[in-house]
Amino acid sequence: MRRYSRIVGTGSYLPPRRVSNDELAAELAGKGVETSDEWIIERTGIHARHFADEGVCSSDLALQAAQRALEAAGLGAQELDLIIVATSTPDMVFPSTAAILQHKLGISNGCPAFDVQAVCSGFVYALAVADAMVQAGSARCVLVVGSEVFSRILDFSDRTTCVLFGDGAGAVVLQASDTPGILASDLHADGQHVGLLCVPGHVSGGGILGDPLLRMDGQAVFKLAVSVLEKTAHAALEKAGIAATEVDWLVPHQANIRIMQSTARRLHLPMEKVVVTVAEHGNTSAASIPLALDHAVRAGQIKPGQNVLLEGVGGGFTWGSLLVKM
Ligand code: ACO
Repeated sequence: MRRYSRIVGTGSYLPPRRVSNDELAAELAGKGVETSDEWIIERTGIHARHFADEGVCSSDLALQAAQRALEAAGLGAQELDLIIVATSTPDMVFPSTAAILQHKLGISNGCPAFDVQAVCSGFVYALAVADAMVQAGSARCVLVVGSEVFSRILDFSDRTTCVLFGDGAGAVVLQASDTPGILASDLHADGQHVGLLCVPGHVSGGGILGDPLLRMDGQAVFKLAVSVLEKTAHAALEKAGIAATEVDWLVPHQANIRIMQSTARRLHLPMEKVVVTVAEHGNTSAASIPLALDHAVRAGQIKPGQNVLLEGVGGGFTWGSLLVKM
């Protein structure tokens, strides 16, 4: 009998400090950087984002989201036998944020824990890896988290990027099952586009060499994102043998409402079937998909038995999708 993995619980967490466009614009004006609520909403659909307080790390946000996902699953942390954290803003260069999270969850069973780095596609990558490990019999109960403090890597003198991102975390608990579950996954990368979206600096000799802040060619990212998201959605649907009309919900990476609208249009999905949280969350990179998923589950939108298409795209360039029966 085929072994599947099923999502048995979701959870998420946003740091309490909500920063509206107007608040951000006022803060930026003090630094001579001009932006407005109107511009941000029209070009991105973002109304506000949440920023973590100083000293709060990705593992802190991940802990809150993980505890909520475990509670929703009705499972204790000791029952986990694998932890994967997707993040581009880890607590430290090493060890992994997943290992730090394991300790914060009070887990002493020695389960493996590691990070996945695929920027905004990180959660999709992590969930696909977790699913493969469950299918292979290497794990039975997995915590998969996307957690980010992108506010730490933003250049607040660059209005083309600093208005787009926020902090947060989302998590799912995956369990082995005889019934599906994750139906298909599709992952890709193309390293020739490294420079389109990156934090180019690195730690060396006790300091940071190069630029430690996020740099992006927004228009090039936009065009690439729309094209690869359509392709990966079709690939996952084909692998699962499911038609686009059978998709109940699309949960896309929450980067920009215009990218989501364009993807939905290309897949002939009405926007009523698209989970949109970018207005209140901004782009939380690897956290955006599990945050949106959890919000839709808790709002009673996504229901058991429905087909949900998750898709992400981000730096690398990386992209991918998963088709999930809830
Ligand atoms: N406030 C006011 N004006 C601004 C701002 C701002 N925050 N940012 C840029 N502008 C100005 C520009 O300077 C430019 O002015 P100019 O015409 O005088 O030169 C004008 O607005 C238009 O700029 P564009 O870059 O052409 O604006 P565009 O419509 O392309 O929107 C944006 C920019 C929102 C970044 C868009 O390209 C985009 O969403 N790209 C996708 C990138 C993305 O979502 N990345 C997230 C990470 S990657 C991922 O997750 C997939």
